[in-house]
Amino acid sequence: MGSDFLPFLSVVLLGLAFTFLFLHVLSTKQQQRNLPYGSMGWPFLGETLSFLKPHNSNTIGTFLQDHCSRYGKVFRSHLFGSSTIISCDQDLNAFVLQNEEKLFECSYPKPIHGILGKLSMLVVVGNEHKRLRSIALSLTSTWKSKPEYLHDIDKQAISAMESWKKREEVIFCDETRKFSFNVIVKQILSLEPEEPQTTKILEDFLTFMKGLVSFPIYIPGTPYAKAVRARARISTTVGVMVDERRKMVEGQEKGDFLDVLLSNTSLSDEEKVSLVLDLLLGGYETTSLLMALAVYFLERSPPALEQLKVEHQAIRKRKEEGEHLNWEDYKQMEVTQNVINEALRCGNIVKFVHRKALKDVRFKGYLIPSGWKVLPVFSAVHLDPSLHENPSEFCPSRWVGHMTCKKMTPFGGGPRLCPAAELAKVETAFFLHHLVLKYRWRTKGEDYPVAFPYVEFQRGLPLLIEPLEEEI
Ligand code: HEM
Repeated sequence: MGSDFLPFLSVVLLGLAFTFLFLHVLSTKQQQRNLPYGSMGWPFLGETLSFLKPHNSNTIGTFLQDHCSRYGKVFRSHLFGSSTIISCDQDLNAFVLQNEEKLFECSYPKPIHGILGKLSMLVVVGNEHKRLRSIALSLTSTWKSKPEYLHDIDKQAISAMESWKKREEVIFCDETRKFSFNVIVKQILSLEPEEPQTTKILEDFLTFMKGLVSFPIYIPGTPYAKAVRARARISTTVGVMVDERRKMVEGQEKGDFLDVLLSNTSLSDEEKVSLVLDLLLGGYETTSLLMALAVYFLERSPPALEQLKVEHQAIRKRKEEGEHLNWEDYKQMEVTQNVINEALRCGNIVKFVHRKALKDVRFKGYLIPSGWKVLPVFSAVHLDPSLHENPSEFCPSRWVGHMTCKKMTPFGGGPRLCPAAELAKVETAFFLHHLVLKYRWRTKGEDYPVAFPYVEFQRGLPLLIEPLEEEI
């Protein structure tokens, strides 16, 4: 047995020696090519698990902290099954976003395609993306020019506050989700909250969202498989609405986004339904989270909350009793805009985006090899102490005089900049308007925003609320 074992052992040792030599030569070659430093972690999994390890979303997390201090703001790794360049560098992030489709391309992991669908805007590239995007942008221009859209948002915010009148406690994230969902289904499909189709879409949507953040394995019964099926059901519901709307006689149009979409002849029905899903998806979780983040951080910053209140009291005083908020009011909400910007910076709703290099790219002396994944990490720039003084501190006044600023990219940038950034901000501003005038609040127990990397308050941000006596 002993004599059999020796040749076997020498083959194994020789194999290991060759592997080591091969990896060493490879790594030296890579350094010579000026690849950023870094480590590739375990075979196949690479460093994915450490990269995704949950952390407070107002911090960059231990993975980025360790890697940035060891290798600098740009480093290489192996994530989601691909060789990857991770960028925590403001200039490289901007360069990647601005060079979409020239040097880099949007590239979300395959399981996300399964859930979003092959026609989702986050999946398609090239002319297909341009076509869908120009129509999505028409939504943004429509609602700004129509005061009734803004009145609708205002009405939904008032009705949310009314529904709290007899309550002492709310799970705030549930409330903001309801609000932002009602706003978006009204804007896109003209559905009211109490309509059965709204409830049906919402139920399927909740299943869909759970799957989006779950482990992507398609076995019946798993959250991922349920999400893929929920998406198919939402598609069917929206498809039926498209058919019904088509049968409507001329002059019965509702003037919503679905009408804009139906009047378009260049898109197939499948593309129209997919676009509606993209907007419902984009407009729901992110916006409700922004409101929760603003409320969470404001509670920890009484002077900022006081300033906000003063601004909204002044706006209310200028308006007739029962008069709805409009675009001019929004434009005058400077303190509110600063609060929103700061909640976006500190809360980091979208921690990073997925891109891949289309060719070898050289930037600041580094090589980004063709075909590699590139992840611009927004949170690292938002919390970079060389760009923001005391970055972990919530300080809305840092935005005074800097409404647009390249030190922050919460909505991405370049040709894929979020088409509805302004809509999300208006919803948040109107919601805050009514909240600060009508209630005082305090978090019940401990809760904080965690980046999974999808940001979530683990307990849904339970708030103890109390109506204000001096309500205007
Ligand atoms: C606070 C709220 C929001 C945040 C932080 C946010 C963030 C983002 C980011 C970072 C991207 C770029 C993704 C990438 O480059 O890969 C994006 C794209 C997108 N967002 Fe938003 N978003 C928000 C609200 C909304 C709303 C309200 C809608 C729809 C009504 C929406 C619809 C979309 C769509 C359709 C895209 C894809 C754009 C494209 O690929 O051209 N988002 N969003």
